[in-house]
Amino acid sequence: MKSIQVHLGPRSYAIHVESGLIKKIPHILSENNHGQKWLIVSQHRLMEMFGFKLINLLKENNYNTDYITLPTGEAAKSLNEFSRLISQMVEMKCDRSTTVLALGGGVVGDVAGFAAASFMRGIDYYQIPTTLLAMVDSSIGGKTGINIAEGKNLVGAIHQPNGVLIDTDHLTSLPKEELVAGLGEVIKYGAIYDREFLLKISGWLDNLNTFPFEEAVARSCAIKADVVSEDERERGLRRILNFGHTVGHALEAHFGYGKMRHGEAVAYGMLSAGYISKKLGSLTSSETDLLFETIQKLPLPEIGQQNSNHLMEYIRTDKKNEKGVLNFVILDGLGSAITSTAVNEDLIKESLKVLS
Ligand SMILES: NC(=O)c1ccc[n+]([C@@H]2O[C@H](COP(=O)([O-])OP(=O)(O)OC[C@H]3O[C@@H](n4cnc5c(N)ncnc54)[C@H](O)[C@@H]3O)[C@@H](O)[C@H]2O)c1
Ligand SMILES: [Zn+2]
Repeated sequence: MKSIQVHLGPRSYAIHVESGLIKKIPHILSENNHGQKWLIVSQHRLMEMFGFKLINLLKENNYNTDYITLPTGEAAKSLNEFSRLISQMVEMKCDRSTTVLALGGGVVGDVAGFAAASFMRGIDYYQIPTTLLAMVDSSIGGKTGINIAEGKNLVGAIHQPNGVLIDTDHLTSLPKEELVAGLGEVIKYGAIYDREFLLKISGWLDNLNTFPFEEAVARSCAIKADVVSEDERERGLRRILNFGHTVGHALEAHFGYGKMRHGEAVAYGMLSAGYISKKLGSLTSSETDLLFETIQKLPLPEIGQQNSNHLMEYIRTDKKNEKGVLNFVILDGLGSAITSTAVNEDLIKESLKVLS
């Protein structure tokens, strides 16, 4: 088992990564079992695949467990579903001592995490991510939240989990497109932080059937843990995690949430940001080629020629959110990233040509 530490003083926690880890969960959590209620928040299909097995394991080890399911899809991240979840928690007599186990992808993690952040002003929770994206990204760092009509993730809180428990066996049942989307974020970690890792990923992508997920997940988590330990509230370093995300978010909004997966949009966004890095002279031609080759090994959906003016509208929204200054993340060599406020609209528009 690989254990990685997120260093945040009294809010520090460990990320455990191992294939078959689910069997060890009762043991890993045993120090924190004081007879309180352990509430699994998940989705119906995931309960059938892994949740009931986990409940049985916990019950055999004297844990008092219950569960609540959320609908699937981004729709679960709504005020309505959040309110339904909190009401059910009250009905089940959850209290300040209750510990939540968020079992699922980023959607479950975000809603269950926000419930844990706000129920009775905050209770303990663990993330048990089951998608690749959730394993390497959303389960670490404590960002939780839901969507409102006016935009995604507009209501939320930073509430760190007490631990992250990753069983890479769960990836076996994940649809290939979800896996590919998660790989977009894995490539991002290599690109912004670890050149050697990026080179390894590039080789591994030649055959997805032999891709060493345990190793790739553990390294990705370690990089995210490093960055979050340094800058929990995204005032500086944490911004580099947004590499590929300015154009990525625009593509997601343009195609409609749910039509293009977040990680797929980020993969395209990294092509655009790679092009810009080269144009600004911070990435050499051969480094840019290597980044492009790696991203292009992913079987991404075709997107064709896009209306750059339309995409720019969404990018301007990102800028509005940052007090009029767009912090664009570029690469400063492979394995190193910086934020630049000097990336202008013309250059972004020009970079969109590489997407089709
Ligand atoms: N909090 C953060 O820091 C952060 C970071 C990135 C993304 N996010 C959020 O994460 C969400 C996307 O997460 P996601 O990509 O994991 O999507 P998701 O949670 O919707 O999961 C995708 C689908 O896969 C299913 N699934 C999950 N695990 C499975 C498994 N092991 N086998 C088979 N099917 C499985 C789910 O039921 C769902 O239908 C977005 O809402 C995004 O805003 C949050
Ligand atoms: Zn992302």
